[in-house]
Amino acid sequence: MGQLDHVLEKNRAWAEGIKADDPQFFQRLSNQQAPEYLWIGCADSRVPANQIVDMPPGELFVHRNVANVVVHTDFNCLSVLQFAIEVLKVKHVLVVGHYGCGGIRTALRNEGFGLIGNWLRHVQDVRDRHQSVLSNCDNEHDQADRLCELNVIEQVGHVCQNNIVQEAWKRGQRLNVHGFVYDLADGILRDMGLSASSAESWEQVKQNSIDELIVRPVRSGRQKKA
Ligand code: CO
Repeated sequence: MGQLDHVLEKNRAWAEGIKADDPQFFQRLSNQQAPEYLWIGCADSRVPANQIVDMPPGELFVHRNVANVVVHTDFNCLSVLQFAIEVLKVKHVLVVGHYGCGGIRTALRNEGFGLIGNWLRHVQDVRDRHQSVLSNCDNEHDQADRLCELNVIEQVGHVCQNNIVQEAWKRGQRLNVHGFVYDLADGILRDMGLSASSAESWEQVKQNSIDELIVRPVRSGRQKKA
């Protein structure tokens, strides 16, 4: 008995279950993928992309890293972005943060050390850039939640400012970039009200989003328009 037999058994049962519903499922998917969405999220085990939005294999192209950061020189993330946009021609890029993110909390508290400290420095840059917003929070818990939201706004910006995205917009490719935050406490994905579909729209969207955070309670998501 191998130590991971239970993992392999679960996999067999899962594959059998899918085939029972749809015998051609895997054969069809093995020929091509045509996802409409690129998900850029946190590596946290509690934020499994497909399960949260109840999408089967083939519908989400996924990139995950600690604290869902989009760094201009991260060839891993950039390669995913390029493949998703230029080859798969996804219609939507979703940057998905989550409340209760350990990476965000570590960055907020200056507790990152070694290699990960360098990675989380990007989140600390976000924190330092938005001290005025964070200082409105009553306690550290709320500050961490707000920093999750600010980090999503900034990372959506990095996607929008990226030349792969800029070139796609210049050629007239239909592509929307969105910012969401997932709440571990209730399983709900909240729309940050950030959505950019052109180079021109992004700056305004970003400023509106940050202004709105000043008056919006943490964890509230987009205010419903009356
Ligand atoms: Co996280």
